[in-house]
Amino acid sequence: MHDVHSYIDANLSRFKEELLEFLRIPSVSARSEYRADVRRAAEWLAERMRDAGLEVSIEETPGHPVVLGEWRGAGPDAPTILIYGHYDVQPPEPLELWTSPPFEPTIRDGRLYARGSVDDKGQLYLHVKALEAHLKTTGRLPVNVVILAEGEEEVGSEHLMPFVEAHAKRLAADAVVISDTTMVGPGIPTIGTSLRGLAYFEIHVEGPSTDLHSGSYGGAVINPATALSKIIASFHDENWHVTIPGFYDAVNIPESFREQIARVPFDEAGFLADTGAAELVGEKGFSTLERIWTRPTVEVNGMLSGYTGEGAKTVLPSKAMAKVSCRLVPDQDPEVIKGLMKAHVERVAPAGARVEVVYLHGGLPWRAEIEGPLYTAAARALQRAFGKEPVYAGEGGSIPIVPSLERVLQAPVLLMGFGLPGENAHAPDEWMSIENFEKGTHASAALLDELRNFGK
Ligand code: BES
Ligand code: MN
Ligand code: MN
Repeated sequence: MHDVHSYIDANLSRFKEELLEFLRIPSVSARSEYRADVRRAAEWLAERMRDAGLEVSIEETPGHPVVLGEWRGAGPDAPTILIYGHYDVQPPEPLELWTSPPFEPTIRDGRLYARGSVDDKGQLYLHVKALEAHLKTTGRLPVNVVILAEGEEEVGSEHLMPFVEAHAKRLAADAVVISDTTMVGPGIPTIGTSLRGLAYFEIHVEGPSTDLHSGSYGGAVINPATALSKIIASFHDENWHVTIPGFYDAVNIPESFREQIARVPFDEAGFLADTGAAELVGEKGFSTLERIWTRPTVEVNGMLSGYTGEGAKTVLPSKAMAKVSCRLVPDQDPEVIKGLMKAHVERVAPAGARVEVVYLHGGLPWRAEIEGPLYTAAARALQRAFGKEPVYAGEGGSIPIVPSLERVLQAPVLLMGFGLPGENAHAPDEWMSIENFEKGTHASAALLDELRNFGK
């Protein structure tokens, strides 16, 4: 093991250079003009995984490809670990708010700035480098490994779900390891214990068949922007409690989760400062961490209507659109929420407004069983890499494939993330801590070692 970790230290600057190359490829999954770039990122990753010593194939899906790397040299009696991550990234806009361009990775003050640095290219690549370190120093891995890297996580993993079902045998594993979540603070290794689910919608409102003069028609014809505003305003009461009937019916959070939250060292002032908002607001009766980890939400992600250019234009817009998503917690189901949302919007829509609710995608919420040898091994590996015991923390975000992996493979999932609060995932100036890239690589290498007798 000594050699493996010295290899990592000796090769770190090359690892970083390679990661910069990966980050220069704009693998934006949401937009079709980046389609070729997404594939280029898959091919680049496949090559690096081959260099590391894995057997690699690029697997086609109806969408972006899956990169599958395998090393089965530990033999049929040894455990198999599946490492999942995503090589696609969020759109970089608004470009003018980036200090350096999103696809020209730049290191400043120990931070690696680029779209996808922390979410998730840096966190995925550190596992590839940990495998390389084992294979180049000892010629083998302590366990069998499958790496599953997808290109559609940021758009809901629609094609990965059937892929996992169809390839369940090839993906069979005793445990799943994922680095795509955040630590509670710098230097505090963290094991993620929950993910929220998601149900994503577009709400379209149409009024007149064309934009109209707001003097000649205003007050006599439905205004879709106003109608949509009323619909959006109907989602919450004055305590930020969601008012969609039935929305909370399936919510099932054990009391023990509150105790877990109380033990987490949470820097609320720092959290607020990172946001730049004036104060923290949310559902009455819950703390900030409870709101993010244990409560479902309805959020407006974007709105489109009418004239938004310079100066004043008196116009009654013909249509309005909002992108609305619900974060879900156990045991809510996106399919049920879809029905509740549609029924609610149709009920509250003002007369004269033609309203359509389009469901884009969804994912189930997830909660970890944190007892057992996978979690013991992870705690040891993190202790070795960070010199500190990990804390257990919930997560507000979603990784839609997690519940499917757990169900189809019948294997426990470990969230061992190396992101930090304030790293601007999905926002301008996304960055990853270089220190966490290094320590994450050591932790991944140590975890493989700690798992050598797992499940046997
Ligand atoms: N890495 C995130 C998930 C995440 C975010 C975990 C914050 C923990 C904390 C992932 O890439 C992501 O952004 N997922 C999307 C899923 C959606 C597009 C289906 C999300 O949460 O919005
Ligand atoms: Mn991610
Ligand atoms: Mn993301």
